[in-house]
Amino acid sequence: MSLRPWNRPLLEVKNLKTYFYRRDGVVKAVDGVSYSIFERESVGIVGESGSGKSVSMLSIVKLIRGRGKIEEGEVLFEGRDLLKLDEQALRKVRGGEIGFIFQNPQTSLNPTLRCGVQIEEAILWHDRADRKRASERAMSLLEEVGIPAPAARYRNFPFELSGGMKQRVMIAVALSCEPKLMIADEPTTALDVTIQAQIVELINRMKAAYGMSTILITHDFGLAAEFSDRIIVMYAGRVAEIASTTEFLNNPRHPYSIGLLENAKMVRGRLNIIPGAPPDMIRPPSGCRFHPRCPKATTICREQVPEETRLSEEHTVFCWNI
Ligand SMILES: Nc1ncnc2c1ncn2[C@@H]1O[C@H](COP(=O)(O)OP(=O)(O)OP(=O)(O)O)[C@@H](O)[C@H]1O
Ligand SMILES: [Mg+2]
Repeated sequence: MSLRPWNRPLLEVKNLKTYFYRRDGVVKAVDGVSYSIFERESVGIVGESGSGKSVSMLSIVKLIRGRGKIEEGEVLFEGRDLLKLDEQALRKVRGGEIGFIFQNPQTSLNPTLRCGVQIEEAILWHDRADRKRASERAMSLLEEVGIPAPAARYRNFPFELSGGMKQRVMIAVALSCEPKLMIADEPTTALDVTIQAQIVELINRMKAAYGMSTILITHDFGLAAEFSDRIIVMYAGRVAEIASTTEFLNNPRHPYSIGLLENAKMVRGRLNIIPGAPPDMIRPPSGCRFHPRCPKATTICREQVPEETRLSEEHTVFCWNI
């Protein structure tokens, strides 16, 4: 069943579980997450710090390192399970079919390479273009992402650019292979408020120009609502609610989502006024993980993991009190 019948799912995440084996216990960072991303749609993933947003995205392309392990699940990208691919095939997918933009362009860009050259290298890595063509393409990408005087900027090192400009270079790098899916993980958190909207607006413009799907991970419910067709709310390693943005704004059903929405109405910004704190992920609460903070919690919420309730094709919620 698809959200929009004319759209096919590009990415289907099914029962994904990623755990970290720490000395003090097992962190069930992502614990049975399922959702689909359709072609050409923009999806916002929101949730408090530690809810598993980044880990779930990194798991998609098996970028979990150290003591982390993908325990279970399927990640179908155009029907093929990325979790079954070997490292060589995955390298083609990362930055090729799936582009990433991270929070801090400072750490994602190579400080020793000129900005234009970084884009050029990205093109050459995935494409059999010659250097001259790659260089021309890099220049036009700089222009596309709204960098003034691109010829001069081409020769700049990252430290010579402002945070917003660096993030534009990152977007150009991510676009260089014309990905089908662009994942932006808190792309604007490190930037001034005025620049934030410009960057997200640019991502959306590029989404349309390249016919991509986008996933925007953010703490900022307002930002997600403004720029996404659909919203996925995560809480403590699980999905709480998935709905189209319109449906979300008019009819949020999970008590946590209702809290997020109230919060966003009061202050456009970080999610910090829902009473209580996110749970300890080594010993998460039984049943519904939100129950200790939930104004509606009853016995069943403490005892059993909520089942999926499909309110409509556009709206799914995991709560016993629906
Ligand atoms: N490398 C790691 N080793 C151990 N635990 C980790 C590691 N990476 C993430 N975690 C844990 O997994 C959980 C989910 O982390 P994740 O980074 O996905 O959260 P997030 O929703 O992206 O938060 P934020 O909004 O702060 O970026 C957290 O409890 C975190 O401490
Ligand atoms: Mg994160």
